[in-house]
Amino acid sequence: MARTVMRVLCVVVACMAVAAPYADAVTCGQVASSLAPCIGYLTRGVPVPPACCGAITGLNNAAKSTPDRQTVCGCLKGILTSNSGINLSNANSLPGKCGLNIHYTISPSTDCSKIH
Ligand SMILES: *[C@@H]1O[C@H](CO)[C@@H](O)[C@H](O)[C@H]1NC(C)=O
Repeated sequence: MARTVMRVLCVVVACMAVAAPYADAVTCGQVASSLAPCIGYLTRGVPVPPACCGAITGLNNAAKSTPDRQTVCGCLKGILTSNSGINLSNANSLPGKCGLNIHYTISPSTDCSKIH
């Protein structure tokens, strides 16, 4: 009995390990770590480093589904409202600086449920 349980668990864990890079939902932790290299631009408008564009391009590619995009939007709002040092116009011009178009304006009052 215990052995069967172990075997089932092993299969489940193995499947998760294989599926994770493709099916993982985007998390706020991922959003925050993607923005970390960008913080100088967001707060002070220093030139956008390539690492920042690489990170947010990766995030944009990871957020392919509507729920993922809404998650990212919600995380961005949380980051904005909890970091008063972030310049909103810099936050909104950042995707463009990296050649991305996120199709919405991020602000503390953005309605993330309207994003698709
Ligand atoms: C935000 O950045 C823009 C240009 O990058 C600047 O004109 C504006 O004054 C900044 N706003 C604040 C609140 O610092």
